[in-house]
Amino acid sequence: MAHWPEPYRIKMVEAIRLPERAERERLLREAGYNVFQIPAEAVFVDLLTDSGTGAMSDRQWAALMRGDESYAQARSWFRFYETVRGLTGMEHVLPCHQGRAAENLLFSELSRPGRIIPSNNHFDTTRANVEFFGAEARDLVIAEGRDIRALHPFKGNMDLGKLEDLLKRERDRIPLCMLTVTNNTGGGQPVSLQNIRETGALCHRYGVPLFLDCCRFAENAYFIRLREEACKGMSVPQIARAMFDCADGATMSAKKDGLGNIGGFLALRDGELAARLKSMLILKEGFPTYGGLAGRDLEALAAGLEEVQDEAYLAARIGQVRRFGEELKKNGVPILEPAGGHAVYLDAREALPHIPAREFPAHSFTVAMYLEGGVRGVEIGSLMFGKTGADGSFVPAALELVRLAVPRRVYTDAHLGYVAEVAGAVVKEAGRFKGYRIVEEPPFLRHFTARL
Ligand code: F0G
Repeated sequence: MAHWPEPYRIKMVEAIRLPERAERERLLREAGYNVFQIPAEAVFVDLLTDSGTGAMSDRQWAALMRGDESYAQARSWFRFYETVRGLTGMEHVLPCHQGRAAENLLFSELSRPGRIIPSNNHFDTTRANVEFFGAEARDLVIAEGRDIRALHPFKGNMDLGKLEDLLKRERDRIPLCMLTVTNNTGGGQPVSLQNIRETGALCHRYGVPLFLDCCRFAENAYFIRLREEACKGMSVPQIARAMFDCADGATMSAKKDGLGNIGGFLALRDGELAARLKSMLILKEGFPTYGGLAGRDLEALAAGLEEVQDEAYLAARIGQVRRFGEELKKNGVPILEPAGGHAVYLDAREALPHIPAREFPAHSFTVAMYLEGGVRGVEIGSLMFGKTGADGSFVPAALELVRLAVPRRVYTDAHLGYVAEVAGAVVKEAGRFKGYRIVEEPPFLRHFTARL
């Protein structure tokens, strides 16, 4: 069916408002044309991220009330621990306040100068944590994963040939291999179970542990259920477990498929590594049975990690993002195909061909979406990833994309249809929009605070 109704109904609503055009113009000016600086209250449809922006269920809100706020060995910890262990099959669970804290813990122990940490596509915080402790983060996604128009069902797959080459040559420099499911940086594209299994087997042949960056494990599992012939008879929880069975550890931002507003964890099979990391956990996050979270957060996440594996929920979720991609295309907007699990990525190079990379076409598109319709997306192009070469020259990003991430259980198809119309209007009048120049930028992560 073209439509698949959400398997829930709405019990509470939150008002949103489209400010007048003059107000949008003023806010953009005041924000230095950086949508990260626009007050959220002045955003009509906010597709900046799917992270921590989801709606909790009545079950999760009820779970908050059961939160046990004891400092050590709280009841809520055991509920969280059993859920994560049941999901991953991993004995050791370190709760963290969000995904990057889990990454920071892991790489504080395993990353150092001279080492290489391969992945299909490292997410920015993963890359930043790997590099902060001195190792090199290397992306080895298959060639189709770098091609905007390639219609491969699993564009997040690891290039096994490249990985084996690297393992053969540099085994001693590789402390672990990562696999991001789904690969956010590469378009929210899934990794097949076969590829996860083969990546695990290959790593293990060389004695290298495999870790999943599993923020969106349920969306990945659902894509496997839909697209991988050999897995047609498996349920989503069975597929999820089969994914984790290939891995030695996992980092998770539970702000995505944990259906929570905050939280994360690091799960491990290796007890010795877990013991070493627990000392760091106490230093950085908190006692190992709460790790920077309140008891009530642990309860909400335990419920969320169960709910997210419900197939009716996933059918509605993945279907909504797919239909959003189709609406965008109908409105003449060029997108990265196929649509991802959590977001649709617009191709700004094609949409605004008159703006050169050094004037940030994807940024221009992002600003235009706010100006035209109060919609907020995020630039993933040369503003985020462009560099200055040793000779002072401008080095553009590989792609100029705008990510429209869809929060879980928050917006209806009508909201997304509206966004598709706004994006279509920008494409139709592309000539009206100009490029940008940075007038002020910090030394790192400039896209968050730069003024243009
Ligand atoms: N890994 C992936 C694949 C992610 O997408 C994110 C966050 C993280 C790790 C870090 O988790 O934010 O809880 O510290 N992605 C968000 C986004 C920020 O908008 O895509 P975190």
